[in-house]
Amino acid sequence: MVRSYTDEPVDPAVVARALDNATRAPSAGFSQGWGFLVLDTPEDVRRFWDATADAEDEVDDWLAGMSRAPVVVLPCSSKQAYLDRYTEPDKGATPAEEQEWPVPFWHMDAAMASLLILQTAVDAGLGACFFGVPSASLDAVREAFAIPPAFKPVGAITIGHPAPGGAAGSPTRRGRKPRDEVVHHGRWTASLDTA
Ligand SMILES: Cc1cc2nc3c(=O)[nH]c(=O)nc-3n(C[C@H](O)[C@H](O)[C@H](O)COP(=O)(O)O)c2cc1C
Repeated sequence: MVRSYTDEPVDPAVVARALDNATRAPSAGFSQGWGFLVLDTPEDVRRFWDATADAEDEVDDWLAGMSRAPVVVLPCSSKQAYLDRYTEPDKGATPAEEQEWPVPFWHMDAAMASLLILQTAVDAGLGACFFGVPSASLDAVREAFAIPPAFKPVGAITIGHPAPGGAAGSPTRRGRKPRDEVVHHGRWTASLDTA
């Protein structure tokens, strides 16, 4: 994740490719219950940061570096699209109130699409950062950009040319877990306590 950008514009063709790739992400039942809000003018990008910044916030390293990114994409998910899709015959025709979801597939799918946006940006030699939209800012963001109630931003992605500096990410403060610590072959633990 890159948290500091130059003000050099981003080639719109790269943004278009990133969004094309996003629409090729897998989605449960091929529901495709996602939507992508692209902010690629200085005015729109400024309105995004105005909507998310706390009035009392100081402009810290993070905000200074991130808000220079010329493009911000908000991947959004619609739970309703999945509830509707799974009432169709090939998905069991289960009424929405009886559906059981092992995890929220609507957010998962928007997250998979988000990774494709990040990877496309990096492939093109750009930097990008996925970050959360604070809950307290959600209504302001909805209002600023007329996001319909059915869709919820799962986060936001800055895209731009990387610059030195910016906020250090968590990997500077904590190590990457070794593969052997997180991968379990055959069984999770050596002895299963079934009591
Ligand atoms: C769901 C999610 C939320 C994140 N939220 C933030 C955030 O609010 N601010 C931020 O600077 N980075 C955020 N990140 C980026 C992570 O901090 C970053 O991916 C992690 O520290 C690993 O760094 P790397 O991706 O550069 O390897 C988020 C990443 C994910 C997947």
